[in-house]
Amino acid sequence: MTDPATIAPEVTDLDALRAAAKDCTGCELHECAGPAVVGAGSAGAWLMLVGEQPGDQEDKAGEPFVGPAGKLLDRALEQAGIERDTVYVTNAVKHFRFEQRGKRRIHKTPAVGHIRACRPWLDAELRIVDPPVVGVLGGVAGKALLGPKFKITEHRGEVLEWEGRVLVPTVHPSSVLRGEPERREEAFDALVADLKVVAAQRR
Ligand code: URA
Repeated sequence: MTDPATIAPEVTDLDALRAAAKDCTGCELHECAGPAVVGAGSAGAWLMLVGEQPGDQEDKAGEPFVGPAGKLLDRALEQAGIERDTVYVTNAVKHFRFEQRGKRRIHKTPAVGHIRACRPWLDAELRIVDPPVVGVLGGVAGKALLGPKFKITEHRGEVLEWEGRVLVPTVHPSSVLRGEPERREEAFDALVADLKVVAAQRR
């Protein structure tokens, strides 16, 4: 048993965090998904990007944002002038929540209970990485960090003061992939524009 509420506040570096979180039993998602997928990047990164949860490919690879949404994020970061290897990339929820349909595992949005159960890991990542800038990717990350009423659509691209850090919310990269094909380019450009706001916060 690994209860994040008791273990996460004690971990002092990312290796210890990764080792402890791997066996997390803080909610029922560990029963079906692979080992918890924690963030990738280094302590001291200037920027932490917080997504929703690992997808099918991330669950298999054990790394965040390596699937289609991750590839789109890489392109958007590059166009915004942000090198991914300077960034710590993580998720609000560390296990993949899905529904099995035949051979396919279909993404299911994590519930408030999953976000809450996982929050100690995110807090530990914030404490250890200590990024001056946080980029919030989508509604689940927004709710995890800013509360259940937070709406990304009302605040995307804004520069907010949050717990001694600068925080910029934007949409989740998979929303660009899910949108109508004829509006995809526009949605991608809007994501890049928000990420340029993030880039401008680098000191
Ligand atoms: N979507 C996320 O929010 N995170 C990932 O790691 C992959 C897809």
